[in-house]
Amino acid sequence: MNPDDEVCLCFHVSLRKIRGYLLREKPPVASLISECLGAGTGCQWCVPFLKHLHACSVEGKPIDLKISPEQYIADRLKYKASGKRPTDTPGPADPQDPAPPSPTDA
Ligand code: FES
Repeated sequence: MNPDDEVCLCFHVSLRKIRGYLLREKPPVASLISECLGAGTGCQWCVPFLKHLHACSVEGKPIDLKISPEQYIADRLKYKASGKRPTDTPGPADPQDPAPPSPTDA
């Protein structure tokens, strides 16, 4: 994705704006990215991607999404039509919002 591509399509929040917010504010949890122009508070499509970007920021990795804007928009249209995400959508990576433990974690 390029910096001016929108991550939150509902509120037109670009990758550049989210990067700037993460680097400037260093939010402890991904959900605080909503303070950046309401990102993630609409259809919820971008939430896993916002969590991924937050995890990248926390881990000191490049804050980026490895998906073309065309594919991102197409996947979001499918999500809005079906309510289902593609299987390669980033999963929960926020340490404050971990995936549920598996039955073998006991
Ligand atoms: S795309 Fe971000 S809330 Fe809909």
